[in-house]
Amino acid sequence: MTDRYAVIGNPIAHSKSPRIHAAFARQSAQDLDYQAILAPLDRFAAAVAEFIAGGGRGMNVTVPFKLEAFALADHHTARAAAAGAVNTLKFEQGGILGDNTDGAGLVADLLHNIGCPLAGKRLLLLGAGGAARGVILPLLDQAPVSLTIANRTASRAAQLREAFAEHGNLAARAFADLAGHQFDVVINATSASLAGAAPAIPPGLYAPGSTAYDMMYGRGLTAFLAAAQAQGAGRLADGLGMLVEQAAESFQLWRGVRPDTRPVLAELAGDLQRA
Ligand code: ATR
Repeated sequence: MTDRYAVIGNPIAHSKSPRIHAAFARQSAQDLDYQAILAPLDRFAAAVAEFIAGGGRGMNVTVPFKLEAFALADHHTARAAAAGAVNTLKFEQGGILGDNTDGAGLVADLLHNIGCPLAGKRLLLLGAGGAARGVILPLLDQAPVSLTIANRTASRAAQLREAFAEHGNLAARAFADLAGHQFDVVINATSASLAGAAPAIPPGLYAPGSTAYDMMYGRGLTAFLAAAQAQGAGRLADGLGMLVEQAAESFQLWRGVRPDTRPVLAELAGDLQRA
């Protein structure tokens, strides 16, 4: 029997996840079906229960349900527990397992697709919402020399520093207090790009040869990447690779098989350029 998976969110119509997982399944000859499910805002848990009752094996969870998915899971992987949010559910005999593959997806994209090592590097993470929180532990696991969190509302960055203090050496700053510092990798985890805006960080932050990474993606440069280019970042990357890599992490959790992400990423990147 074909195993059933889905991505659940609201909105969901433009999700690329069904296409990505269909490509992974073809590539690895796995017999599975992967759909997109639009859940009403007040019916997340009910929609998951229906999917399980219909034989569902696992789900990806996207905006705005990642916190509800965390609450719904019976147990969590360490990285999901640290993130406080869940983007992957696996339905098992013993209950619902909640995982968070976003941070691993970001790290895999940086290391393997972009060729940007993180060990020994000075990292700057912009933002202090759910997206930032989800990637802190996987970034610390790469043993950077420093990880600085900066946020428009500085107190939220300080809260994150406290929350992760036991996991590594973190600094928290207001945007203005970044002036005079330099970084090797600057990651935008704010939602500013959604509104076509770039975080108001001071100039001069990009070390020679540094990488600017936006967790958002779209056709052409995001506002953050355009600003980074103007401020002298050596290399620019958007979050399309993270999307494909987090999907691969989920696929591995469900199926025990690691898909080859490169052809899938190349196909999606080509489509975006043609769009
Ligand atoms: P998510 O779960 O996607 O991270 P969130 O929890 O609402 O969403 O967090 C949004 C993040 O983007 C926050 O860090 C927010 O900064 P504030 O805490 O100061 O609100 C940041 N953000 C949104 N728009 C921004 C903008 N125009 N410039 C800078 N930061 C912005």
